[in-house]
Amino acid sequence: MSKRVALVTGGAGGIGTAICRALSKDGYQVVTTCAPVFECPNLDGWKQTMRDEGLDIPVYEADVADFESCKQAVEKIEAEVGPVDVLVNCAGITRDSVLKKMTPDQWNQVIGVNLDSAFNLTRQVFPGMLDRGFGRIVNIASVNGRKGQFGQANYSAAKAGMHGFTMAVAQEGIRKNVTCNTVSPGYVATEMVKKIREDVLQSIIAQIPAGRLAEPSEIARVVSFLAAEESGFITGANIDINGGQFIH
Ligand code: CAA
Repeated sequence: MSKRVALVTGGAGGIGTAICRALSKDGYQVVTTCAPVFECPNLDGWKQTMRDEGLDIPVYEADVADFESCKQAVEKIEAEVGPVDVLVNCAGITRDSVLKKMTPDQWNQVIGVNLDSAFNLTRQVFPGMLDRGFGRIVNIASVNGRKGQFGQANYSAAKAGMHGFTMAVAQEGIRKNVTCNTVSPGYVATEMVKKIREDVLQSIIAQIPAGRLAEPSEIARVVSFLAAEESGFITGANIDINGGQFIH
C-alpha cells in the first residue's frame, strides 16, 4: 500500500521540523510548504539536514495567507505526490507589539499567516478527505490563544480563532472519519521564542511551572498521535502542552 501523504505547513520552522521528522518516522510521505513572501530562512540548509537524516520531504512554494497560492500548491502536491490525508496547519509568525502601537500591517500579517491559512489550506483538502472517508487535520495554536498575552493581541486573536475553526470543522468531518483537532503549545525552544527580549523571556520562563521551555519533539509526538488511524474518535479537542503555564 502506498504511504499516506501528510502536508505540514511551515515545516522548516522549529516546531514544523520536529513534526516533519515524527510523521516521516511514522511512515507518512511528508511534504511541506514554504512562503515566498515571509521568512523561510536557510531553506537550502534545512533541505540538506533532512537529506542527511535520510528524510525525503519535498518543499512546495505557497503563501499560506493567500487562497489562490494554496490552491495551486495543493493541486501540484496532489498531482505529484498524491491526495493529502493528513494536514498540519503549523505555519505561523509573530509581529509582537503592545496594542497602542500595533499597526494594521502587524495585525493583518498575523491574522493572514496564522488564521486565514487554516481556511486556505483546509478548504483545499477537506472535500477529498470526505470523499475518501479518511482525514486528519491538526491545527497548531498556542497557549497565548488560550490565555491571551501582553504584546500579542494579533497573535492571541489568531490562535484563539484557530480553535473555533477546529470545533466547527470537527463537526462537519467526523461522519466521514475526518477529524480536526488543535494542539496548543506553550513556549518552545525555537527561533521564534529566542527572538523575545531576554529579560521578557526570563520573566515568562519564571511563570512556567516546569521551569523550562518545551522541546519541539514534545509537541510533535502529540501531532503524530492525533494523525494516527486509531485516533479517529478524538475530534474538536484542544490539547495543551505548556508545562503547566496555563491549566484550564
Ligand atoms: N503584564 C503587565 N505589564 C507588562 C507585561 C505583562 N505581561 N509585560 C510588560 N509589561 C509592562 C512593562 O513592565 C512596561 O511597563 P512600564 O512602561 O511601566 O515600564 C510596559 O508594559 C511596556 O513593556 P515593554 O518594555 O516590554 O514594552 P515594549 O514596547 O518594549 O515591548 C513587546 C513590547 C515587544 C510586546 C514585549 O513586551 C514582548 O516581547 N512581550 C512578549 C510577547 C510574547 O510573549 N511573545 C511570544 C513570542 S513566541 C510565541 O508567540 C510562540 C508561542 O505561541 C508561545
